[in-house]
Amino acid sequence: MPPHVGASRMPDLVGLAERIAERGITLGKPLHLLDEVESTNDSAKQASREGAPHGSTWLAESQTRGRGRQGRSWISPRGENLLFSVLARTTCPVARVPELALVAGLAVRDAVARALGGSGGPQARLKWPNDVLVGQKKIAGILVESTLTGRRVEALVIGVGINVHTRSFPDELAGRATSLALEARAPVDRAEVLVDVLSGLHRDLELVAGRGLGLVHARLTEADALAGQAISCEAGSGTAQGIDTEGRLLLRRDDGVRLRLTSGEVHLGRG
Ligand code: BTN
Repeated sequence: MPPHVGASRMPDLVGLAERIAERGITLGKPLHLLDEVESTNDSAKQASREGAPHGSTWLAESQTRGRGRQGRSWISPRGENLLFSVLARTTCPVARVPELALVAGLAVRDAVARALGGSGGPQARLKWPNDVLVGQKKIAGILVESTLTGRRVEALVIGVGINVHTRSFPDELAGRATSLALEARAPVDRAEVLVDVLSGLHRDLELVAGRGLGLVHARLTEADALAGQAISCEAGSGTAQGIDTEGRLLLRRDDGVRLRLTSGEVHLGRG
């Protein structure tokens, strides 16, 4: 793939706006295809303050200050992967944000699973709260940021990074990161994956904002990468026991104490 071609000419993004229109979804419109930005989440947040409509989406071929969760950076070679942010003018109580972040993770996981070939291929799973893994390697991450008025959410920016075409990672990531190009049996088209993510968000976001995680909870459980696994986190080590209907991770610590985690970072293994 040529390294410095503008976003609108990248072969696997051709026809993206038309494909979004064909699916009849409200997200992905208007679509801003950008060559380089600091961070698509920052583009979306800025535009949100200026009144951009629900569904606006920013997709960049490269970011100079891509951000991840917990203050980490998100680095991706130009033109190889999916880097995008969706503005959802979804209103709900602030307590529902973790549930909406899980829904975003589920939409990304489902799109990655489809690109991997469905049930016969390698399995994609959601690692609470916001990573998508294939095996133990990360293939995608989600950064959800919200705008509040008092204790109500006025808008969400859902930032997504999916490793699509990258085949080699820097040494420090090589053992922990993977991509669709490395895992899928057939060539993957970025437009298709993006449209699948948008469709998943379109289907579930408003539903969960209004009625909570209950209606998607079975799918979340099926996608859970941690259930039954040994994990470690700030609260200690133990065994993950699923995700509850409020989006909390259930942990049975090795000393027998049961905890419900609302946020933070979890590592596979006993650390
Ligand atoms: C994580 O795994 O920590 C979340 C990574 C989120 C990265 C995406 S790339 C597009 C969007 N813009 C950003 O600056 N971050 C998100």
